[in-house]
Amino acid sequence: MQFFENESFYYRANQLFCENVNLSDLATEIETPVYIYSKTFFKNRYLEFSRAFSNLDHKIFYAVKSNFNLSVIKTFIDLGSGLDINSEGEFYRALLAGAKPENIILTGLGKTYEEIKLGVVNDVLMIKAESLDEIILINEIASKLGKIANVAIRVNPDVNPQTHPYISTGLLENKFGLDEETALGIYADHNKFKSICFTGIDMHIGSQITSTAPFEDSVEKLSETFFKVKDLGIDLHHFDIGGGFGNQYLNEKVFSIQELANKLFPLFNKLKCKIFFEPGRFLTANGGIIITKVIYNKCNKTKNFIVVDLGMNDLLRPSIYTAYHHIQPLKNNLHKDIEADIVGPVCESGDFIAKNRTIELVGQGEYLAVMSTGAYGTVMSSNYNARRRPAEIMIENDQWKIVRSRESFEHLVFDEKEKLQ
Ligand code: LLP
Repeated sequence: MQFFENESFYYRANQLFCENVNLSDLATEIETPVYIYSKTFFKNRYLEFSRAFSNLDHKIFYAVKSNFNLSVIKTFIDLGSGLDINSEGEFYRALLAGAKPENIILTGLGKTYEEIKLGVVNDVLMIKAESLDEIILINEIASKLGKIANVAIRVNPDVNPQTHPYISTGLLENKFGLDEETALGIYADHNKFKSICFTGIDMHIGSQITSTAPFEDSVEKLSETFFKVKDLGIDLHHFDIGGGFGNQYLNEKVFSIQELANKLFPLFNKLKCKIFFEPGRFLTANGGIIITKVIYNKCNKTKNFIVVDLGMNDLLRPSIYTAYHHIQPLKNNLHKDIEADIVGPVCESGDFIAKNRTIELVGQGEYLAVMSTGAYGTVMSSNYNARRRPAEIMIENDQWKIVRSRESFEHLVFDEKEKLQ
C-alpha cells in the first residue's frame, strides 16, 4: 500500500510519528477516535502562504470554519493572522482565542440581526454583504448604534471553480454573492447608506480548488468590477479573493501557493490596494489526522470490511462528498495488503471512511490513521447515535496536549435531565 507523509506526519522505524511523538505510544494512553494536530505544520503553512505573497501589501484572515479549536485559532493569531468568521459562535470562539475585532471579517450570506449587531458593536474590520436586504439591515443597525460599518460586497464572478458541486460557490446558480450588475447598482447608490462605508470588494468562488485558472479568471473579472466601483468615486481599500486554495490529499496535482502567487501577482499589482486572503483548508487540512482503532474485521462473499471506532458523526467528509482521506496503520507491520471498505459503527451504509481501499491487513485492536483531517473534520462532527465527539490533541515537537477533551455523557444530554417531562 501507499503511505502518505509530510514534514509533520512521517514513519520512523515503521511507526507513524507526529513531529517527535510516536503516535502508537500516544494511542495507548487516550480513548479513540482522537484528532491529532501538528502545531508546527500549521505555523509552516501560514508562513509559506505569507512568504508567497510577501511582495504584496496583503493580509491573511484564517477561515475559522475549517478548524475552530481555540488552540488552533490562537496559533494563527499568534502569527499575526486576522480571522474570517461566519457566525456568532465563531465570533465567540475567536474572541476567546484572543482575537481583536479590528482583525476580524464577518462573512456569511444569512447573517441575523444579532450577528450583524455583534459585528457593528465590536467595530469589526469589515462585514461582507451578500444581498441588498442585508445592506439595508447593516445600515439600519449601524445608524441606530451611531456607528459607521465598513462593508464589502461579495460579488459572484460566475466562474466555475471545478470542484465538488456542494462546495462550489462562484457560479450564479449558487446562492452566494451578488452578480456584478446588482453589486454595481448598490455601490452606485452608496450615498443612500449613510451609516455604511464601502471599503472593499470580495469574492469566494469555492473550496478545494486545485488549478490556478479559476482564480485567475475570477480575479480578472472582479478587477474590472473593482475599477468600475472606483470610477463611481468610491475609494476601495481592499480586494478580498476569499479562500478555496486546494490541498493535496494523496498525490493528485494541486498548484503550489507560490505558483498561484506568481500567476496572480501581475493582476493584484494593478489594483494598488491591500489584498485579503481567507485560507482555511490550505492551512489546516494536512496538519491533522484522526487515530481510530480497529474493532472487527469481517468479510462476506464479496467484500472485506474493517470496522473501526470512527463514525460519520466524527468525520463526515467521506459520507457527504465521497471525499478521499488516506488511511494507513500507525504501525507498519509489513503485513500483506487487502482490499476493504473501512466503515464506522453508525447505523447507516453511508457511514464509511473509504470504499474498496487497498490497505495493509490490520488486526483487531490495532490503530489506523485517517490522514488530512485537520480541516472540516471536528468542526463538522455531530452527536449522531449519541456518540461523544472525540478529543483533540495538539503536538509541538515532543510535547502533546489535550486541547479539547472527549465529550462526556453529561455533554450529550446537556439540560435534558432537568427538563425531563
Ligand atoms: N471564505 C469563505 C467566505 C468561505 O465560505 C470559506 C469556506 C473559506 C473562506 C475557506 O475556504 P477554504 O480555504 O477552506 O477552502 N465542508 C467543506 C468545505 C466548505 C467550505 C466552506 N467555505 C469540505 O469539507 O470540503
